[in-house]
Amino acid sequence: MKILYTFFLLGISQVFFAQSQSVPKLFLKDILTFPLGASVNPRLLDENITYRERTGSEFSSVTAENHMKMMNIHPGADRFDFVLGDEIVAFAGNRKQRVHGHTLVWHNQVPQWMKDFQGDQVAWENMLKNHIQTVVSHYKGKVAGWDVVNEAFLDDGSLRPTIWSDHIPDYIAKSFLWAREVDPTVLLFYNDYGQDGKPKKMQAILDLVADFKKRNIPINGLGLQMHINIISKNEAILDVITKSAATGLSIHFSELDVAVNPKNNPEFMYDDVAKDEQLNKFLMLFNSFKSLPKAQQYGITFWNVGDKDSWLRGYFKRPKEYPLLFDDGYARKPAYQVLLQTLK
Ligand code: XIL
Repeated sequence: MKILYTFFLLGISQVFFAQSQSVPKLFLKDILTFPLGASVNPRLLDENITYRERTGSEFSSVTAENHMKMMNIHPGADRFDFVLGDEIVAFAGNRKQRVHGHTLVWHNQVPQWMKDFQGDQVAWENMLKNHIQTVVSHYKGKVAGWDVVNEAFLDDGSLRPTIWSDHIPDYIAKSFLWAREVDPTVLLFYNDYGQDGKPKKMQAILDLVADFKKRNIPINGLGLQMHINIISKNEAILDVITKSAATGLSIHFSELDVAVNPKNNPEFMYDDVAKDEQLNKFLMLFNSFKSLPKAQQYGITFWNVGDKDSWLRGYFKRPKEYPLLFDDGYARKPAYQVLLQTLK
């Protein structure tokens, strides 16, 4: 009996210990004046309870990391697969989180049947229009905004040659019009990366916005992916933010990660120096976002939740990379606490 009682007490104290660990008092998302997001992976939401808990409690917005992309959502010419996208929407709905849609038109993660598609310009237009309108209609009222077109420009500012640019003249504008046709209120974004230090790419995006305004093509926001690293130049990044905000459109830091080991050094140590440099980048980004006009603050979205799940580890095969705000065990990093103190 005594032994049982001791076990009981031990059990209770562990519950309290676990609770005091997992129910922190202040959440970054609650002190910010704008949504704090993460991209998410439905498999992890299903399988990993800590991931699920963190994603649900630490963020006020979610983006599908992969499952609303063409390849996953439209795997056959006559087949759409909304199962995992819907799972993310349901997860977010249960927690009153906003959902950001990513992405309708891109040159990557395109299903084979689209790559093999044969037809004249009209056939291509109908194919892309059907894709966009079916997906936008499906999520109408459920997502707040869509990355309509992703990464359409090269670093030199020219239009990236893709199956879309090859077959559909003016495909960017048409994509925005097709999306708007079926959803009059969802916010429409153009999303891209690496504008910092690439003035021609930046200019191409600004020219696109100016051209859209002139032609009355709907666009509501710019997604700045913010896949940056600790040696990215602050000045160049701030310049991109200022120029993007000067369009008057909503601004989304849409895929934030701050790589600490961009050269993939196998000996890399995530030491205090690297952590400080990373923290300074987070601070610079959050502070500059905070100083944007309120109406333009769509939010800051991290590209996944814990370091372990970052695409920099998986996709780029950089095992010693620690780019996010939560560590491999989903614990808040010290940087989290500093952001909390500084931004409140
Ligand atoms: C990445 C995902 O994180 C990976 O899991 C996937 O293998 C490839 O795509 N820009 C984007 C995102 O707009 O969709 C990309 O996401 C990262 C770069």
